[in-house]
Amino acid sequence: MRIVIPAGERHKNIETVQYIWSQLIENQADRKSLLINVGGGMVTDIGGFAASCYQRGIDFVNIPTTLLGMIDASIGGKTGIDFQGLKNQIGVFAQPLAVLILFEFLATLPKRELLSGLAEIIKYGFIVDKEFLGAHLSATPTNPINHTWILKAIESKDEITSKDTNETGLRKILNFGHTIGHAIETYLIDTQKNITHGEGVALGMVSALYLSEKYLNLDHQITLYYKEIYRQNFNRIDLNDVPVEKLLEIMRHDKKNQGGDIRFVLIEDYGKPVYDVVVKPEDIVDSITYLIDYLNDADYWGK
Ligand SMILES: NC(=O)c1ccc[n+]([C@@H]2O[C@H](COP(=O)([O-])OP(=O)(O)OC[C@H]3O[C@@H](n4cnc5c(N)ncnc54)[C@H](O)[C@@H]3O)[C@@H](O)[C@H]2O)c1
Repeated sequence: MRIVIPAGERHKNIETVQYIWSQLIENQADRKSLLINVGGGMVTDIGGFAASCYQRGIDFVNIPTTLLGMIDASIGGKTGIDFQGLKNQIGVFAQPLAVLILFEFLATLPKRELLSGLAEIIKYGFIVDKEFLGAHLSATPTNPINHTWILKAIESKDEITSKDTNETGLRKILNFGHTIGHAIETYLIDTQKNITHGEGVALGMVSALYLSEKYLNLDHQITLYYKEIYRQNFNRIDLNDVPVEKLLEIMRHDKKNQGGDIRFVLIEDYGKPVYDVVVKPEDIVDSITYLIDYLNDADYWGK
């Protein structure tokens, strides 16, 4: 049987899960049934969640069709849905039986979605190895991203998540750029300025590098280098109307926090991440202002 759900983050919710469950019941799915999730990260997140709760858990297989899904969302066992305006607020850790990577799917993927995945690959340049920063140079007219980089990113994610499945320590490094990136993505979900997950991360990394300089003495040249990579690859997004206080409020709900503090993954150098860094709210505000000033700098962007 086939279950079709509407595309888009705003459908990653409990109503869609209920629809999946009702379809499973209607088609007499039992504990031996297998749910095969074919789609982007939205589908593998929600499908994995629906499967892991149905009759206390049935097997599922992920077949990611987006770059972000291949290198990130489909592996590592995080499943879930958004709830009451909060991203991935409800979910469980559940491993797929298998993940099938079929590069052919990338042929139809819009450029913006490819860039969303590229942002997550570039992230590994900061938390694993500088060489990942070169991934954006591998594109050719027929091949938007060299498959070697995709495989390397998958290996890195798999290695990190298999050492810390439930995110009690090491796995947190994968959230580099996500604290502010997620907040911006969450705030914009229902606005005309909806951004992709990777666009949020790409933006969040500018702020995370600013904070890394302030808290861990990161070399400013690294921030300048990334800002150049950002300018060459990602969209200049207008964040002037985004209320910073609202972003702070969203960050306070972040699942990675404890005891009311807002915690970040920052870096000391390429490949040297530090997680659970408590950052003062006023410094978070400064880092968002830094990001907005960067995006507003007409001379730098040449327009
Ligand atoms: N579980 C995790 O560890 C994890 C990690 C990162 C992101 N995520 C989640 O992943 C989601 C984002 O995933 P995404 O970026 O893949 O977005 P997505 O699943 O929303 O897909 C983006 C768009 O691309 C379309 N699409 C999918 N495959 C296509 C193809 N081959 N050709 C043409 N169009 C195609 C979809 O219909 C959709 O419109 C978010 O919900 C995010 O929270 C989860």
